[in-house]
Amino acid sequence: MGRIFKATLWLGFLGLVGIQFVPVDRSNPPVPGEISAPDQVMEVLRGACYDCHSNETQWPWYSRVAPVSWWIAQHVRIGRNNLNFSEWESMTAEDRAEARKDIWDEVEKGSMPHSDYLRMHPEAVLTEPQRQALLLWSEGRAREFPDWN
Ligand code: HEC
Repeated sequence: MGRIFKATLWLGFLGLVGIQFVPVDRSNPPVPGEISAPDQVMEVLRGACYDCHSNETQWPWYSRVAPVSWWIAQHVRIGRNNLNFSEWESMTAEDRAEARKDIWDEVEKGSMPHSDYLRMHPEAVLTEPQRQALLLWSEGRAREFPDWN
């Protein structure tokens, strides 16, 4: 191997080690007012949405390894800013209505959860009944669930 090539590899390696020391915000702030919804809905939200849309993110091991960690932390930050089920109770009625409409749109289009998240979390792919539960709930028709609770 040429000396320049070896030196480049070393620099790359040292760079990867170095970026591990950049601080990343993986905090889970307190939960001021969690959403309450029928069990069927809560199960879907917790299983497929909470990692990015709540203060109860389950940070996987690879969220500790830069540069992947930067990317994940940014998704969580933006996700929480857009919609945070941990703050649902403190939202105004208008904001909640708006959020329900957005949720309906995203679930109808199948664009949430993001496909790159689903690659790492295949269990979060929504089944048809789960999709229906979210759609009905976001239309305010949760009472039509077969086993309402
Ligand atoms: C991997 C992280 C992640 C997961 C999991 C996730 N989201 Fe999102 N969500 C985001 C991000 C980031 C945004 C910001 C805008 C975008 O990227 O589309 C967002 C935006 C949204 C929005 C707002 C869209 C708008 O028009 O403002 C809604 C509604 C939403 N998500 C619903 C959901 C629902 C419902 C689930 C679960 C079924 C879910 N998300 C799962 C990351 C996620």
